Amino acid sequence: MSKLTRLIVIFLLFTIHHSLSADEGMWIPLLLNKNIGQMQRMGWKLSAEDLYSINHSSLKDAIVRFGQGCTGEVVSPFGLLLTNHHCGFGVIQRHSSLEHDYLTDGYWAKSMDKELPNPGLTVTFLVRMEDVTSQVLEGISDSLPENLRDALIRKHSLRITDEAKKGTHYNASVVPYFHGNQYYLNVTEVFKDVRFVGAPPSGIGKFGGDTDNWMWPRHTGDFSVFRIYTDTNNLPAEYSKDNVPYRPKHYLPISLGGYEEGDFTLLFGNPGSTKEYLPSFAVDLIAFKENPVKIGLRQKRLDIIGHAMDTSRLIRIQYASKHAGIANYWKKMIGESRGIRRANGVAKKQQFEEEFQNWTGSQDVDQKDFSRILPMFEELYNKLYPIDMAAIYLREAGMAPEIFRLALGAGELIKTAGDKTVPEEKVNAEAMSLLQSTRGFYKNYQPLIDQRITIEMLQEMQDHMDKHHLPDRYEWIRKKYNGNVNAYVEHLFSTSLFTDSARLYAILGSFKRKSARKLATDQAYLLGQSIKERYSKDVLPAGKAITSVIDSLQRIYMQALMEMQPDCQFYPDANSTMRVCYGQVDGFEPANGVTYNYYTTTRGILEKEDSTIYDYAVDQRLKELIASSDYGRYADDDGTLHVAFISTIHSTGGNSGAPVLNGNGELIGINFDRNWEGTMSDLMYDSEQCRNIILDIRYLLFILDRYAGAGWLVEEMDIR
Ligand code: ARG
Ligand code: ASP
Repeated sequence: MSKLTRLIVIFLLFTIHHSLSADEGMWIPLLLNKNIGQMQRMGWKLSAEDLYSINHSSLKDAIVRFGQGCTGEVVSPFGLLLTNHHCGFGVIQRHSSLEHDYLTDGYWAKSMDKELPNPGLTVTFLVRMEDVTSQVLEGISDSLPENLRDALIRKHSLRITDEAKKGTHYNASVVPYFHGNQYYLNVTEVFKDVRFVGAPPSGIGKFGGDTDNWMWPRHTGDFSVFRIYTDTNNLPAEYSKDNVPYRPKHYLPISLGGYEEGDFTLLFGNPGSTKEYLPSFAVDLIAFKENPVKIGLRQKRLDIIGHAMDTSRLIRIQYASKHAGIANYWKKMIGESRGIRRANGVAKKQQFEEEFQNWTGSQDVDQKDFSRILPMFEELYNKLYPIDMAAIYLREAGMAPEIFRLALGAGELIKTAGDKTVPEEKVNAEAMSLLQSTRGFYKNYQPLIDQRITIEMLQEMQDHMDKHHLPDRYEWIRKKYNGNVNAYVEHLFSTSLFTDSARLYAILGSFKRKSARKLATDQAYLLGQSIKERYSKDVLPAGKAITSVIDSLQRIYMQALMEMQPDCQFYPDANSTMRVCYGQVDGFEPANGVTYNYYTTTRGILEKEDSTIYDYAVDQRLKELIASSDYGRYADDDGTLHVAFISTIHSTGGNSGAPVLNGNGELIGINFDRNWEGTMSDLMYDSEQCRNIILDIRYLLFILDRYAGAGWLVEEMDIR
């Protein structure tokens, strides 16, 4: 290649690739000074230090990871915390009973002493972070074998976290960024007394249900309210009635000023996982091979459960949460694959890869043999494909029947009983505790539903899996039942100890060491065990052998991408650590000829109302309040009450409950979802199509103040 052609190629590269749109990215809070110029041009009025500082309190001190998978924000000097209704859902459900159905009716503490404790629920603040790449990678050369590399990294990380924790009550972890090219220390503080303050009824907090999930236009009042408590020194403590409300270092002021199209928005949260730098082979695998199989299997389960829920109120209650859990990512994957197809995602990646390959051919770069990366990826992903499919069938189909989870839970008891050194009383006590723990299972269980699911799932595995990946038990089904899955499962459900609580309680209630044989030879246990073993002893290790090479290659690919585009500002894939994302309020065009507005109002709630459909029944009191149109200070300039709005912020799972701020750092909304057309953003962000969905803070305040009569909470806040 002549010098000139090489220059042209390089020039083209810079113009085509990774020319991130201003909205794309999930940025490390510590490094925002690199973004601040662009942010300020877009409308951010504060500094980078105002967002993250270790010298004085900053916005990050008002942000928490709520539980494991969500975000929340402190909004008062007394530790009051906002997050989503769907993030608090489990907690709200645990406090609910037939007499106090907080899920259906909502709950509002009338004073602090009515705020309810939640054992196990934590919130985690980021104390500080630090680039520790050079310490972690010290003495690690490119030629070091991967297993030695991993061992050294573990050793160095341990030393760094020990050092960081010394003399404090903090937690610390060293986390890889950019696929192991960089490492950051995250020091965190965990609070363990988090009380439930209030939540609207499902008719508001979950309005639109699974039907509206992942959809715009949206009218869900998806929020719940909590409070952090501490010991009298303002330090984290286990629950105690003597604990006092937390005095935060910082809490977010709230703006009633609203927003216009084009306004700057900023989100501070804990995005879980994205895969933006995959090669085309991987995107193709996920979008067009993995997703369709998973979607199809989930569809079958949803049909069975959904149909049963329509026929019985009891079943609706029993299966609501399970159904929502299966449906959430089922729908997300449909959107993701459609989005990738529509955007020609695989072809775009391929086009980029062609240029990457050309770049590696230019002599300036050859030392690291980057030219072999893509061919190796191709080979590895081809190898992975059949194992990956087997893994998906075993996980999504094989582990779908609830009965297996229950039966495998007896594994420990069987083991204990087999150990002659354990006294009989201890075996018996373990059986009693197993009996207790299964009560919750049967409360929400319908064997007929599970039987239908088991038949369908086993059949799917038999029809679609490679014979040598099928669990051993299929051999037995072939011999004993002539391969007739239906007959086998019917027999299993009618005879297993686990499918009938009375049968199981009878044996666990007066358990003898020798009763263990009955559990261990139970058909549900045997089949569950056989599926689990095929997965964990066979398919998983085979997959890992390939994916660990892929991971190492991805690290080198990432390094190459950065070398190839030195002027591009890269952001690391989400990894459940704190990030800042920003964009602007913006509508979008979901299809040719269709334009979506950037906000919704309460009018849409009445338009969607349908008292015959569970998800669209509107709360009576809310209806009256809307009818009176008296929104006071919560109204927009045009007199309407906005419910939700959208912006171009690049977000993902884990950002639910995260605060959305205006250019002044004031809270204007709470993130809760993305649009269906844009769920591909986990693989490839497209500023034309990807939007995050935000609850308008004014609707939240209106509900608190006017609907719930919880004005005392509003008074704690700094409202501007
Ligand atoms: N789609 C949102 C998020 O990914 C909300 C999910 C909760 N709602 C539901 N209907 N499942 O998690
Ligand atoms: N609803 C998601 C969450 O729970 C957010 C998203 O995926 O956009 O974190």
